[in-house]
Parts: sequence; structure tokens; C-alpha cells
Amino acid sequence: MEKKAAEQKIQELSEKLHYYNYKYYQESVSEISDYEFDMMLKELIELEEKFPDLKTSDSPSQRVGGDITKNFETVEHKIPMLSLGNTYSKEELDDFDGRVKRGLGEESYEYFCELKFDGVAISLHYENGKLIRGVTRGDGSKGDDITNNAKTIRTIPLKVRGEQFPEYFEARGEVFLPREAFNEINREREENGEALLANPRNAASGTLKMQDSGVVAKRKLDCFLYSYAGEDLPIDSHEEGIKQLEKFGFNVSQTYKKCKNINEVFNFINEWEEKRHSLPVDTDGIVIKVNSLGQQEQLGFTAKSPRWAIAYKYKAESSTTILKEITYQVGRTGAVTPVANLEPVSLAGTTVKRASLHNANEIARLDLRVGDTVHVEKGGEIIPKITGVDLTKRDLGSNEVEYIQECPECGTELVRAEGEAVHYCPNKKGCPPQIKGSIEHYIQRKAADIDSMGERTIHLLYEKGLVKNVADLYDLKYEDVFELEGFKDLSTQNLLKGIEESKQIPFENILFGLGIRFVGKTVAEKLGAHFKNIDNLAKASFDELIEVPEIGERIAQSVVEYFHDEDNIKLIERLKSAGLQFEIQETVIEQKGNVLENKSLVVSGVFEHYGRDEIKEVIKQYGGKVVSAISGKVDILVAGENMGPAKLQKAEKLGVKIIDEVEFRSLIKEN
Ligand code: IVH
Repeated sequence: MEKKAAEQKIQELSEKLHYYNYKYYQESVSEISDYEFDMMLKELIELEEKFPDLKTSDSPSQRVGGDITKNFETVEHKIPMLSLGNTYSKEELDDFDGRVKRGLGEESYEYFCELKFDGVAISLHYENGKLIRGVTRGDGSKGDDITNNAKTIRTIPLKVRGEQFPEYFEARGEVFLPREAFNEINREREENGEALLANPRNAASGTLKMQDSGVVAKRKLDCFLYSYAGEDLPIDSHEEGIKQLEKFGFNVSQTYKKCKNINEVFNFINEWEEKRHSLPVDTDGIVIKVNSLGQQEQLGFTAKSPRWAIAYKYKAESSTTILKEITYQVGRTGAVTPVANLEPVSLAGTTVKRASLHNANEIARLDLRVGDTVHVEKGGEIIPKITGVDLTKRDLGSNEVEYIQECPECGTELVRAEGEAVHYCPNKKGCPPQIKGSIEHYIQRKAADIDSMGERTIHLLYEKGLVKNVADLYDLKYEDVFELEGFKDLSTQNLLKGIEESKQIPFENILFGLGIRFVGKTVAEKLGAHFKNIDNLAKASFDELIEVPEIGERIAQSVVEYFHDEDNIKLIERLKSAGLQFEIQETVIEQKGNVLENKSLVVSGVFEHYGRDEIKEVIKQYGGKVVSAISGKVDILVAGENMGPAKLQKAEKLGVKIIDEVEFRSLIKEN
């Protein structure tokens, strides 16, 4: 393609991608399929690779990340990023209102209330409507330049919407990891045997400081904006600033409210006390701001924070109780978690008997002793935590907690890797919860998918000595299962059928099911695609493994160790003889012709001679590509019976060639 044409195409694609991105992330409207979106993005990236000087700093391709920042540059904030004073009671809030009233000399004023989002503050700099920099709050006067990472956040506009904007402005707000995305990451980390992230806020702040923006792009960060800042902006109130941010296409949480007086503020606080838990992000309070910018100026600042704003923090519900005992749980990966067993206490509507203590460091940090009176809190998190000890009530004869040295389940000596907080039981193949856990891991949907089996059955099979590893599942006989508690003829058949069917599960899934540390589903897929079968993978050296895209040293080391273990080799041999898939199935498409080469086709409706998937297969056999939705790039629409009129209309409008089944068959000469 000529450079001139490329430039035009790049511009066209960029505009479309910005538009669809905005529609999708801000208005939840998908006007095109994900596939079409990805294809457009791919085309853009390819063009930019061909003509690197045509790549702009606000190109939608920046969303996928990939740029590495070794050291984040320090940037001074033109306008300092201050913090807020905190209040914990309505009385203190009344005092604040009194100070505002006096400060404004009895002039009338309004408040603007927002939720206080628990993430990381960020300032986004826009020049001529384009995002030029993203900076963390840092110490308030200077922060880190994390532009590449900020660009991967889909709701942050790389270019503002509309034509009218100041030459320079900053949009400030809070970057956060939605609770759902946080849980998903931790589920995955747990599966891969990695240490869990403490809470969404830490996860967001850690992610924002990652060097590889490609990894950041996968983390699903989001951002709420709550401040429009700059010099001589054409606005008179905070509210107008917020409305302007909305018009520019920023993500503004629709939870704000303008309040005429402090009583309305109290109502707002009450309204959100419970409701805030339904938001996708953790919140810990309300921010109350004087609305008029002129009045804000009049009130001014103290050394640390504005006099025109304050945060009201919701109380984390807390109580005191007695620590009766510390017990220890062993997880699937062998990680040991200490658990505080408490004198039951009622907190936020539930009875609390236990609290997680995370690890030995946490016990040391709190200087906990059995018999202590402890403070327990239930904040946004579901699991209550111990926040401190009431030392005045400590029994002088109490002793420091001695962390266990041996696994409470199997007696093996625990290990703690250099630099890690968590103790592990290394007896993977002999420790009951680890054995049962490895089988649970194996049967899950993403792995061997034996859905006729559950935790309880695994427990029974293990207790009866019938199953000690996943290979044993394939030796189970009808009588073995039938004799288990609660099993009848049908349930027995069902269970055995599920096990039998797992023999057809693709290699990648089984590989994931083996539970090699750090080998999650995506890694298993990468390894499978690269090495094709288990023998090649088992033979692979450390150096060969790290050659594979996205396989790092930690994973490579773990894979090498796994296949160095004779027991694992034996296990795989047994699974192989049972008939499991240890090779990837490459679907080779038998080429019958090339009349459709380089053509994109859409199929729609029903056909006389072909099933839905069948006709797609035929298209591929003749060199064509099947896409799911009509766009200007589609060459042919194969229209079957009963296809939707909208699709037909769109195809006609875009000038896509439309053929029926008869024409299709004559095209490929199949009649
Ligand atoms: S306004 C000068 N509004 O709270 C005041 N801050 O302690 C600037 N925060 O660093 C802050 N939600 O990270 C403001 N709706 C909101 C907020 C909010 C969360 C955070 C922000 C700031 C800290 C202030």
C-alpha cells in the first residue's frame, strides 16, 4: 500500500476504533462484533508496523500496550495533588460546615458530594485534546509518569470527544481494579500456585507501576474521574467541571449529588452507607466539596488539604473479642494459612468466629497471643480481619505464638522460600488436602471437565483409599463407586461415564489439569501449541522453554522440575495408557480449491445442502475466510433461507456481493 493511502486508512480505522471503544465502554453498546473490532485493530497495528512514522501517540493501538518502561520518570505536578482531611462522625462534619459558613461570611453555598473511591489517584494531562501524559499522585508535588500504562485503560479517552477544548487541562481521578476483576486475578493466581494479592487497591497500584504495559492491558483496570483542572477554564463550579468531563467522554461515576445544605449531605451519606457495596469498586466514604470555584478560592488551603473539601469515612464495623486458638489450614498448593479462632461475636449482622491471619508475618506484626482481647473489623471485604490487640487486657503470663514447623495434615516439615511470606508443605504427593486438591483441580471444567464428580466424592474416594492421584480415577470399577455412601446405580454409571468422556478432552486442558505450578490455562495452551505433545514438552530444556513467547524463567523452571520427577512421569504414562489425549489435535483443512482465496465471507440463514458449520468448513476448503458480521471488508454474503432483513439491507448498502446457495454451489463447482 502507498504511504498516502495508508495514512488515510490509519486515520479512518483510528476514528472508528475510538468511536466503538467509547460506545462499548461508556455506553455499553456494541455496534460491531468483538471479532470485527479485533480485526480492525489488527489491521491498524499492521499498517503502523509497516509505516512506523504514521503511528500517533493517541492511536487506539496503544490500548493493547507492549511498550516497556524500565524507569518511570518523575514529573512535577503543575497543580499539587493534595489529600483530604478525614472525619468519622456527623459532629465533625457539622464543625466543617460551620468553618465553611464562617469562611464565606454568611454567603450562601452548595455542596457537591461524591463517593470516595478506594484506588490510586492519577492525573491525566491533555494537550490539544490528546492525552499526553498520565502521572501518579506520588508525594502530591511530584509523581511517576505512567503514560503507557494509563493508555491501556479502555475508559480513558486518548482523544477527547467534541471540537471545543482548552489547549491544556488535567483530568484527575482514581484508577481502580473492579472487585470482579480482582477476584478473577486471585482465582487464577491461586490456581497457578502464586501468592494472592491483598486487596483491589494494592492490586491497582501495583499494576499501574508495572513495567510491561502489555500485562497492564490484560488487567482490566478502570478509572473514575472527579476533577477537571487547569488555568482559566471556562467553568464556575465543580459541577460544571464534572459535566464537562462527561461531555469529553470521561468515565464519571453517576453517584454524585449536589446538596443545598449539610442536612442533604447527611441524607446522601445515609443513602450510600449500604448501597455503596453494590458498586464495582470499593469505597470507604464520601467526599464533600464546596461547589462554587470562587468560594473554593475564598476558602483556600491549609498546608496539606483544601478547606473547601473533606472526606467523611464510613466506620468499618468493629468489635472486640477473645482469640481462643490459632489453627492452620493447608490448601491445594500446600500453602499454609493461619486462622484465628475467636469467641463468637456479632459484627455487621453476622456472627464472626474466625478470621484469616494470612501468614506468620501478620501474626508477628500484630504481636498476637492466644487469650488476647483483639479488635476485629469487617470492612468492604467479606472475611473479617484482626486489626489490633487490646494490650491493657493481656494476660502477663501469655507467650508469643510459635508458628508451626510441621504440616498439621501430614507432619512434613514446612518450608518457606526466600523472600516469601507463606509457609508451604512440600509433601505434594502425600499430604491429604494437597492430594484431594490436585484431583479437584484436575476435574474442573477448564481441565478434564468431569462434572459428574464433586468435592464430596473425591473425599469419599480418597478416604476409602481408592484414589490417591488422578490416574487412579481411570482404574475405578463399578463396584468401587457403587459401594460409596450415597451412590446408586444411576449415579455410579454417571460418574464412570464422566470419567470415560474425559479421555476425549484436548491435550491443553489435560496439561492444565496436571497442576504444574505456575502453569495456568493460558500458559498450558501456549505450551501445548508450541510443543505439540507431552513428550516434546517433557524433553524441553530450560532454555528451550524460555524461547516460547510469554514463558518466563519461573514457569520454565517449574516445568523442568515437574518432568524431572519420576512419579510425575509414571503418572503421565498411566494416563496415556488409560487413553487420555497428550497430543494437540490440529484440524487440518483439506484444500479442495482456491476460488475463494483472499475473500471474506459471511453466511447467514439456513441451507438445503449444508449445516451451519458445514458450509463454513466448505468455504475454508476453498481458501475463503469466514467472518461473523457484515462490514465494508466483506466480499460475499451467502444468503440462506430466512435470513434477517437487517443483515441483507446492510450488505446491500455496503455493496457486498450477495449470492444464494445455488450460486454458491456453482461458484465452487459442487453440484
Ligand atoms: S478530591 C484536593 N474526590 O482521596 C482534593 N478525591 O485524600 C482532591 N479520592 O488522593 C481529591 N475519591 O485519591 C477526591 N471523589 C473523590 C475521591 C477522591 C477518592 C481519593 C484521592 C485523593 C484522596 C484524598
